[in-house]
Amino acid sequence: MSPEPSHNPAIEVYGLEDRTFPPPVEVACDALVTGNELHEEAETDYEGFWARQAGDLLTWHREWDTILEWDLPYARWFVGGRLNAAENCVDRHVAAGQGDKVAFHWEGEPGDTRTLTYADLQIEVCRFANVLKGLGVTKGDRVAIYLPMIPELPVAMLACARLGAPHSVVFGGFSSESLAGRIDDAEAKVLVTADGGWRRGKAVPLKDNADVALATTPSIEHVVVVRRTGEDVAMTEGRDQWYHDLVEGASADCPAEPMDAEDLLYLLYTSGTTARPKGIMHTTGGYLTQVAFTHKYVFDLHAHTDVYWCAADIGWVTGHSYIVYGPLVNGATSVMYEGSPDHPGRDRWWDIIERYKVSILYTAPTAVRTFMKWGTAEPAAHDLSSLRVLGSVGEPINPEAWMWYRQHIGGGTCPVVDTWWQTETGAIMISPLPGATTTKPGSATFPLPGVAAEVVDDAGQTVTQGGGYLTLTRPWPSMLRGIYGDPERYQETYWSRFEGRYFAGDGARIDDDGYFWLLGRVDDVMNVSGHRVSTAEVESALVDHPGVAESAVVGAKDEVTGQAIVAFVTLKGEQEASDGLGQELRRHVATKIGPTARPKTVIFTDDLPKTRSGKIMRRLLRDVAEGRDLGDTTTLADPAVVEEIRRRATEAPSED
Ligand code: WTA
Repeated sequence: MSPEPSHNPAIEVYGLEDRTFPPPVEVACDALVTGNELHEEAETDYEGFWARQAGDLLTWHREWDTILEWDLPYARWFVGGRLNAAENCVDRHVAAGQGDKVAFHWEGEPGDTRTLTYADLQIEVCRFANVLKGLGVTKGDRVAIYLPMIPELPVAMLACARLGAPHSVVFGGFSSESLAGRIDDAEAKVLVTADGGWRRGKAVPLKDNADVALATTPSIEHVVVVRRTGEDVAMTEGRDQWYHDLVEGASADCPAEPMDAEDLLYLLYTSGTTARPKGIMHTTGGYLTQVAFTHKYVFDLHAHTDVYWCAADIGWVTGHSYIVYGPLVNGATSVMYEGSPDHPGRDRWWDIIERYKVSILYTAPTAVRTFMKWGTAEPAAHDLSSLRVLGSVGEPINPEAWMWYRQHIGGGTCPVVDTWWQTETGAIMISPLPGATTTKPGSATFPLPGVAAEVVDDAGQTVTQGGGYLTLTRPWPSMLRGIYGDPERYQETYWSRFEGRYFAGDGARIDDDGYFWLLGRVDDVMNVSGHRVSTAEVESALVDHPGVAESAVVGAKDEVTGQAIVAFVTLKGEQEASDGLGQELRRHVATKIGPTARPKTVIFTDDLPKTRSGKIMRRLLRDVAEGRDLGDTTTLADPAVVEEIRRRATEAPSED
């Protein structure tokens, strides 16, 4: 750890990592980008750079008059341009002779499969668009979608886009209450749902959940129900109809509505780990430009040969941008999987990669750490040699997980691209380019071409080396256009903390070589004896210990030090919890990064409380550590986990 700081940095940093990995020759020799050319082009004229991407990557009905109108905090990109998202994702590929190309290799959890070519997708999208039209949906109407990971989900989204009706996809793991709140906020007219979906061998009763929600959602006029699990569901006469009945008679001819570049494409509610969900607004032209650009260059997409798999759920922004819009605009072939990674066995993903010869895999650190916990035998038993590029998103990826991912999934050669972005940014903002960037395990490296990111201190002064707050200093095409129905909250949340800058809410550090290291949400930064320590760095030091699979660290009130570090730790399969190991881990952190960061208490637990998208809910752990009643647990994936942790917490010894 650094000695007493000479000034008062916003967040102190310890710099644990000095391994570097240049792009491997096999990737670099054939990569779309191998040098600095895109960054240089964008630095010279960033508006012109984005306009070139918009022109190269998309098909427009009418070209724009102005590239960017920026009236902080509102940006309008490609003003006056007209295009349709569904046409860009589907029709133009069919028209270009790519109709037989596979868009999705879909696999259900029970093992059933479907292959959708671009031509199939066109027919399905047009039919369902006609169904929606028949139900009275017109341009501007909101449609709520509450579906499992089945082909009807992207089809329904694209059908909405075809008509210019913004969709609001609600993740299938959300409760009735969450669904109702989101439907009401958007005043959606139609709900598309299913009888259920498969998860760990069980049918999740989506229609039953939806029925509870629908009791309090007066805006909904029609409900369309996809038959997936075949379970019995109640159908309300006059309101509910089966998807298959409706599409059967629907025409496969449906002209696409030419949309303004700034027309709303979708709403997506972010629940975060605390406050009331925000309806994040994304529009058409800028959003599609940046998701297509990033999908192509960050994954070094060779659309004719790659098989791409983003293992997120479409209910999150990662799925919107990198299962649906980015890959389809680029004419890619994707794998889409419905269920959980441990059904029927813990090798389901490796089996999928082997069978479909997946070459690009995009997932989250929480998944990587889960696989680490399960051990190396399962991936080692499969041929994963088709993989070329590995991506990570959603949380800081600690160096040990990064290394494990590269070694045990990527065969020790695949570049790992750690991609930083948010629901609000719409597309990847900070990331390596696999053929051009020398990576460091745990660093998202540099802002992408056309993106301007800076770290600032408490006073908003730029930090060129060290820790602080991550901000974005220029508008970007896929930026959120606001919070639905709440312009003040938009201004307040993102644009008020630092004058003239977008504040992401994340801490970050810039190292001596200018690399960006994400440090987690600043709400999670701890203050120990006046040192501001990021949870991500202590967690990373813990996971660096060979026995540790995953950890979450929080600051709990302490009379002496202000806050004391409490570490929740899950161990790898073969490791036994003991007081001795707790001591060893405390020493390990102290040696790795310094005595200030030494946890006061180490609590062993089998699991950590996570949101359904896999983010650790440190707020709940703070409640546990400080002996409080638990706050809101509705976004928790498995509520039982916290009770178990609470029991363990009361038993754990503390350092004196
Ligand atoms: C975190 C997911 C570190 C961050 C696309 C951000 C990350 C929040 C990374 C957004 C990363 C995402 N490294 N942290 N590579 N990617 N985050 O809206 O705190 O679900 O603000 O979007 O996830 O989460 P969201």
